[in-house]
Amino acid sequence: MSDLLRVTGLVKHFDARRGVFGRMLGNPGILVQAVNGVDLNIGAGKTLGLIGESGCGKSTLGRALLRLHEPTSGEISFDGTDITTLDATALKAMRQRMQIIFQDPYASLNPRRTVGEIVAKPLQIHKLASGSELKDRVVSILNRVGLNSSHLNRYPHQFSGGQRQRIGIARALIMNPKFVVCDEPVSALDVSIQAQIIELLDDLKQELGLTYLFISHDISVIGYVSDRIAVMYMGKIVEEGETSEVLENPMHPYTKALLSSVPHLEKSTTRRDRIRLKGDLPSPINPPKGCKFHTRCPLAIDICRQKEPALELLNGTQSAACHLTSADGPKGGV
Ligand SMILES: Nc1ncnc2c1ncn2[C@@H]1O[C@H](COP(=O)(O)OP(=O)(O)OP(=O)(O)O)[C@@H](O)[C@H]1O
Ligand SMILES: [Mg+2]
Repeated sequence: MSDLLRVTGLVKHFDARRGVFGRMLGNPGILVQAVNGVDLNIGAGKTLGLIGESGCGKSTLGRALLRLHEPTSGEISFDGTDITTLDATALKAMRQRMQIIFQDPYASLNPRRTVGEIVAKPLQIHKLASGSELKDRVVSILNRVGLNSSHLNRYPHQFSGGQRQRIGIARALIMNPKFVVCDEPVSALDVSIQAQIIELLDDLKQELGLTYLFISHDISVIGYVSDRIAVMYMGKIVEEGETSEVLENPMHPYTKALLSSVPHLEKSTTRRDRIRLKGDLPSPINPPKGCKFHTRCPLAIDICRQKEPALELLNGTQSAACHLTSADGPKGGV
């Protein structure tokens, strides 16, 4: 199957001097290196799960793919079109096909608008429907996500967390997109509700032929929803592969550490393979030289402190960025 999305060398640095405190700092060189050269592809109709610790750049990457954050550099090809060079008009048209579902369904819904107004808005902005057609389309998508026409005139605060996320999904899907970034869509929900929303997203994917980038810091959720998994550390993809490969045969020490932190997955790894993650993520303003994981990696050797390893295809479908697994590495591919 062909790729719907191809990302090459994507970089997003934020100017940390922005905002009141940043300007007071007045330091000319402060850049937050949130996304630091990401290459990834997502096949049409597939789900790529993106996992990594808080602050590693998952949301920034997801938003940059839709140009909700303007990339600093790199290329994003969507359905064969390089969207990084599109002007505002062309980008607006392209956005109909690329949508996002946010983590916090309450904060992302305007509290002063009714559900009907919130879900109808994208169609109105793009002037795609009005009058009774607009209402029919809104009711139809509400029905599809498990809500109904009696909800049209209610406000977000009148709904439970799970229902609010259904509203967020309806708003994203009313444009008939091809690609949806699901940014931690269930992290704010109770576990029982999480399962319902994950099932809904899965059904919608099959039914509407959607392609997802599914962001989560929960490896159980990622393992369940994803065809492939990408593991992110300090703005870079450090491992990528089929879901079963990454979960059953992780290559990168960071992936092993993530898996070792989940009790029921830990049982499936041998004691020798377990890696405990120590310390916090280093600052993205001043990332470590060489491999960015070397400061926390129990296996780090000299070269890891000096040279950043490239993401390298290791067995046909699985890639890792680690000197210890590299074919050119010190162990000649372990
Ligand atoms: N608008 C911004 N301006 C400056 N720095 C930012 C901005 N947005 C994000 N960052 C920084 O970029 C880094 C990556 O943030 P991001 O929100 O992408 O991480 P994340 O992986 O989504 O984390 P989480 O799991 O907590 O959602 C963080 O250090 C964050 O503070
Ligand atoms: Mg995030």
